[in-house]
Amino acid sequence: MSGQKLIIKGGKPLNGEIKIQGAKNSALPIIAASLLCSGKVTLKNCPRISDTYASCRILSHLGCRCSFSENTLLIDTENLCCTHIPDELMQEMRSSIIYMGALLGAKGKCSLSFPGGCQLGPRPIDMHIQSLKKLGADIKEEHGEIECTALSGISGTKITLGYPSVGTTENIMLCAVTAKGKTVITNAAREPEIADLSAFLNKCGAKIKGAGSGTVVINGVKELHGCEYSIMPDRIAAATYISAAVCSRGEIALKGIEASLCESFLSVYEQMGCGIYAFDDSIYVNAEKKLHSPGKIMTLPHPGFPTDAQPAVMAAVCRTDGITIFEETVFEDRYRHVDALVKMGADIKVVGKAAVVTGQKTLYGAKVAASDLRGGAALTAAALGAEGITEISKICYIDRGYESIERDISLLGGDIKRK
Ligand code: EPZ
Repeated sequence: MSGQKLIIKGGKPLNGEIKIQGAKNSALPIIAASLLCSGKVTLKNCPRISDTYASCRILSHLGCRCSFSENTLLIDTENLCCTHIPDELMQEMRSSIIYMGALLGAKGKCSLSFPGGCQLGPRPIDMHIQSLKKLGADIKEEHGEIECTALSGISGTKITLGYPSVGTTENIMLCAVTAKGKTVITNAAREPEIADLSAFLNKCGAKIKGAGSGTVVINGVKELHGCEYSIMPDRIAAATYISAAVCSRGEIALKGIEASLCESFLSVYEQMGCGIYAFDDSIYVNAEKKLHSPGKIMTLPHPGFPTDAQPAVMAAVCRTDGITIFEETVFEDRYRHVDALVKMGADIKVVGKAAVVTGQKTLYGAKVAASDLRGGAALTAAALGAEGITEISKICYIDRGYESIERDISLLGGDIKRK
């Protein structure tokens, strides 16, 4: 699989409809949460991506059974017996740190190492560790190894986050859901994927209120049973395909996703001049008109503009009239897709946290490499609007979060091949 490339011939307006896949950033914490459940868990609309496969490898290593049938993932935790995750499994993705809270909640102990994942700047886990210590865990870190025990059990408490960290909010939820007593998280992350995790846990018998708001209240319960749950659609994948329509000046329909889930970024595409029409569970996008810069875009925790959509929107504005100024406030180094876009003819200047994009008439096909998951997806969108052939290497990054980006782009009429 490594060494594969995407070959894209740009210039043809996208035209078609696709179903949006299940959300990576909801599936990953929910798969980890299944460790807390005694009984079988059936996850529908689960994306088949390398990060969910990595999650299944972790669960199998811990003694669980996982099997995919199309987009349904069956998990049986009956033989969960291990609480150590080896480094090679931890290194496959950033979100493997979520197993700290899940194993503490399920078994009262765990040992693992610092997680891997996309390089977006330093990605410390200080808030994760501080928060789980407040819940009663004794955590020792040495040479990148983390040893957690909770000899006197996990007890609910009040935790105020210094920053609304998504992963930290999720780790607290997984650790506290079977704790003794009540846990209140203030300044919690408010991303929709947090609400999805809470809905899954509550369907398994948890007592969580307020997920998706800044204050989450978790009343600990003795144990959780299994359930059947359908994972929410991937709003960031939707942003990627909307950008592909904008780059190619096409018109597309995205099925299986409500516009309300995409409120934090849809207005940016409307400000560009796109026609965006919301139906019950689909979004219709018309990007055939002349498009202009949406102005200034600042990434923020939800409900602000999502950092994960920043690369896709940057690709979209490379060919809109005017100047777009990005300010990336969530990650320190999330402009690694800029060099490749500049190689394709974009005019982008990065100064610290800001990136200034001056729209150009055309982009040109080039040989580029994906630098991370969302950056690689953004290059795919940009290539569809470029003159000539673009070759994107290191697409293993893209496969971490997209089931088959070439399948979806082909269904939308794009000229794309994997080789
Ligand atoms: C989640 O990452 C997502 N990943 C990311 O999506 C997303 O970009 C991010 O949330 C923000 O929305 C998953 O859900 C699997 P954070 P996470 O903790 O949990 C700092 C994608 O492409 N921080 O909210 O790692 C951190 O360094 C991925 O799908 C600390 O300093 O994000 C960052 O600057 C990329 N100490 C900021 O907070 C900590 O202990 C936000 O991180 C934890 C975080």
